[in-house]
Amino acid sequence: MTDLTAPYGPLAYFLDLHPDAGDFLGEALEGLGANPKRISPKWFYDERGSKIFNKITELEEYYPTRTEKSLFLNNAEEITAAIGAGAAIFEYGSGSSEKVEWLVNGVKDAAAYIAMDISRDHLIESASELAGVLPTPVAAICADFLESVSLPTDVLPPPVHMLGYFPGSTIGNMTPAVAQTFLNNASKTLGPGAQFLIGVDLEKEKPMLEAAYNDAQGVTAEFNLNLLHRMKRELDAGLDIDAFEHFAFYNENDRRIEMHLRATQETIITIGDAAFQFEKGETLHTENSHKYSIEGFCDLIGPTPWRMVNAWTDPKGWYGACLLSNRQSPDERLERR
Ligand code: AVJ
Repeated sequence: MTDLTAPYGPLAYFLDLHPDAGDFLGEALEGLGANPKRISPKWFYDERGSKIFNKITELEEYYPTRTEKSLFLNNAEEITAAIGAGAAIFEYGSGSSEKVEWLVNGVKDAAAYIAMDISRDHLIESASELAGVLPTPVAAICADFLESVSLPTDVLPPPVHMLGYFPGSTIGNMTPAVAQTFLNNASKTLGPGAQFLIGVDLEKEKPMLEAAYNDAQGVTAEFNLNLLHRMKRELDAGLDIDAFEHFAFYNENDRRIEMHLRATQETIITIGDAAFQFEKGETLHTENSHKYSIEGFCDLIGPTPWRMVNAWTDPKGWYGACLLSNRQSPDERLERR
């Protein structure tokens, strides 16, 4: 079995690196057995979870999605001018036309659009849809964000340079140390001369942050609690959903929103032979959403091969679009010898 299929339906190629995405059971057992109890937010996004997330993005209180969208659109000309001509756009996460069309159409002579995602079916579906609307060849890579990927070299003409694209402030889900590993690997994947456009949710007043993750309609609560529904459905877990509540707060020390599922009474989750006891008030930590200042984001990328070229913010300073460039340019590597 080869990992590379070219072409693949409407796609220029599909590269499958077989990320180990199927192990919800293993990660649930490990995380529930840890102290404190935790599970990765990547498990939020089954079909139901993705639908609930889309509802979140439309909530009055949840400002990031719409702020990012208008930030990109209002600065599209400047951003795409800074990117320059002939870039191939590599998106971390599979895009929707709404998220990528402004960029792929705006970059002069864009060479290709390549989507990378861990969820195979969703990736193929959304990339195939994009192949119908984008002016460039479209390709897809099924892999984990955190690994570095060697891109196929013979399928598409080589671009002038690569442009990584990571919108949505998803980088905030990573702890700073993991984000640095991610950036190091992306530097290898995207190569010398690459750029990286990243959407970053910025630090702001606590009440506004907390409201965004505690909406009045309870959609975020539903999103968080979906993890328990999913454990029941997919792992045949024994658990009492009514014994848990959504709990989200801004941790000012670590500059992050934390989401937890909190036991409102003593309760037990069983999975197969394993039993996990919750005291009243004990939590299962389900997500971090780190917030940065532009300076703080510069500090984050400091030890990585990336440097900040330009940053755009909306007039209220709620959200940032950061354009980075890979220090690993052919020239700079020579200079370092
Ligand atoms: C998609 C990871 C950026 O952290 O704000 C929304 C996910 N969680 N409401 C975020 C989320 C709760 C979102 N990201």
